[in-house]
Amino acid sequence: LNVSIIGVPTDYGQTRRGVDMGPSAIRYAGVVERLEAIGHVVHDQGDIRVSQKQEGTIVDKQLLNLEEVIDVSTSLANRVNEAIEQKAFPLVLGGDHSIAIGTLAGLGEHFKNLGVIWFDAHADLNTPETTPSGNIHGMPLAVSIGLGHERLVKIRNNVPKIKPENVIIIGARSVDPGERELISQQGIKVYTMHEVDRLGMTRVMEDALAYLRERDVDGLHLSLDLDGLDPLYTPGVGTPVPGGITYRESHLAMEMLQESGMLTSAEFVEVNPILDEKNRTADVAVALMGSLFGETLV
Ligand code: ARG
Ligand code: MN
Ligand code: MN
Ligand code: MN
Repeated sequence: LNVSIIGVPTDYGQTRRGVDMGPSAIRYAGVVERLEAIGHVVHDQGDIRVSQKQEGTIVDKQLLNLEEVIDVSTSLANRVNEAIEQKAFPLVLGGDHSIAIGTLAGLGEHFKNLGVIWFDAHADLNTPETTPSGNIHGMPLAVSIGLGHERLVKIRNNVPKIKPENVIIIGARSVDPGERELISQQGIKVYTMHEVDRLGMTRVMEDALAYLRERDVDGLHLSLDLDGLDPLYTPGVGTPVPGGITYRESHLAMEMLQESGMLTSAEFVEVNPILDEKNRTADVAVALMGSLFGETLV
């Protein structure tokens, strides 16, 4: 593969500092070398420019840092779009999960029936009306199906970026009331930790991939929030929730995604080196990328 790495050093989607250093931590953990060792051609495009907070902008408690998130999402959408035009595989490094708004806006222009696997403890389906925090990193999936603040929904173009029935959430264990309502109303497929426990990751991934194949998706994006794993393995995240996916289960999921041959883009988000222990969380992210991109032992 021709992999194009795009770093997004932003923390504007939430209120804990440090997640803007995620791209550095992931590079330090050796992402480029790891993918090259598999045989991929890797172009690290560096980080997109994220401006300092603009003083004097209106503070909307339901949409914190709105102007800044619009700014970052717009530049990221352009960069992802360029990567796809150059026939490269975009690998986006966060930054908090609000960056998925930009990634999916860039992808939406090329893929008309994109499948999305959302690996996360959370559903990220809040809107300004339902958000308990005002943090936009709790909203990117809603925005991408066309729900939420219109300036976020309309980034790059006027249409929803993905179809709700093409989205599969895996690992959910902290879902807000408004999100629960959207899940049933929009027909979003969710494998909570209950299903992961009950069916095992093999069945979950087999079902998920079969479902997306049946829907005839024209591409598949993985949006992996490191808080989807249990905080035992990935402590360096801003919103940890106990009872998560194990290290082995997440590797298995990555390997099955690789085997499917369906994957066309990926992003790894919410690595916060300030909250981490000796860069463990970035190390796990890079190890998962190894499995996702086809590393084998023998
Ligand atoms: N549901 C909560 C909220 O809306 C937490 C969201 C956490 N999202 C994340 N990408 N870590 O604030
Ligand atoms: Mn900052
Ligand atoms: Mn999360
Ligand atoms: Mn998330």
